[in-house]
Amino acid sequence: MTEFNLNILEIEKNLSKNKILKNIVYFKKIDSTNNYAENLIETGRASKGTIILADEQTKGHGRKSKAWFSPKFVNFYGTFIIKNEMSPSDFFYLTIISSLAVQKTLKSFKLEASIKWPNDILVKKKKISGILTKIIKNYALIGIGININWNPENSLELRDKATSMSKELRETIHRESVISVLLKNWEKEYFRYFKNKKRLLQDWKAKLHITHKEVKILSDGQIFQGKIVDIQNDGGLILDTNEKKTVILYNIDKF
Ligand code: BTN
Repeated sequence: MTEFNLNILEIEKNLSKNKILKNIVYFKKIDSTNNYAENLIETGRASKGTIILADEQTKGHGRKSKAWFSPKFVNFYGTFIIKNEMSPSDFFYLTIISSLAVQKTLKSFKLEASIKWPNDILVKKKKISGILTKIIKNYALIGIGININWNPENSLELRDKATSMSKELRETIHRESVISVLLKNWEKEYFRYFKNKKRLLQDWKAKLHITHKEVKILSDGQIFQGKIVDIQNDGGLILDTNEKKTVILYNIDKF
């Protein structure tokens, strides 16, 4: 496949309609868009509405500092910086908003995705996208990675666990279109939070592929086995264990 940088002008054309995500800072190569955004905030140089985009990440990472494979020219790696307008008990809504935005974006490209709690987006049970949110000072960071044109067959380690849009659709996907749709969808979901967050939570739960299934979870070094019965508004996973106890889990190592 021919290798191209992202056409930022094309994405910017669509930004004019946006109310929150307004300006792009683009890198051909960076350690991590999240690290860059964090540094902007820590050094007082951040402005709300900034989207950090990169064509390649050398230290892309996800939850629990797990590496996020970020080869050049094929995928989406981006971090949005917004003003934090949520109360601490609602921080998990940033993940809810972002997962639904990704799920809807994939749907508009005719891909059915489900959400694996807390922040994985799956197609046919394989990971296609991951989300990493963080609150720093009075800003919120939303880091999103979507596998678009990457071929998982090239990675022995990931080919059984991960997929991409092009693999599922059997064609090369125009990355700029995916990104423009994602930015629009992200804003829509964000506004829904202020209008009707109960409905947003319901929609998100409807897309979760785990609810009510028997699972084995490693959390803070302890194994829990049981059925997931619900998710709390703050993102906590409610598990009815086989020992007839209800536990709320936040910190998951493996499941
Ligand atoms: C996860 O699955 O645990 C979350 C993965 C998040 C990856 C994205 S790619 C853009 C941004 N920069 C990073 O280093 N991470 C996020």
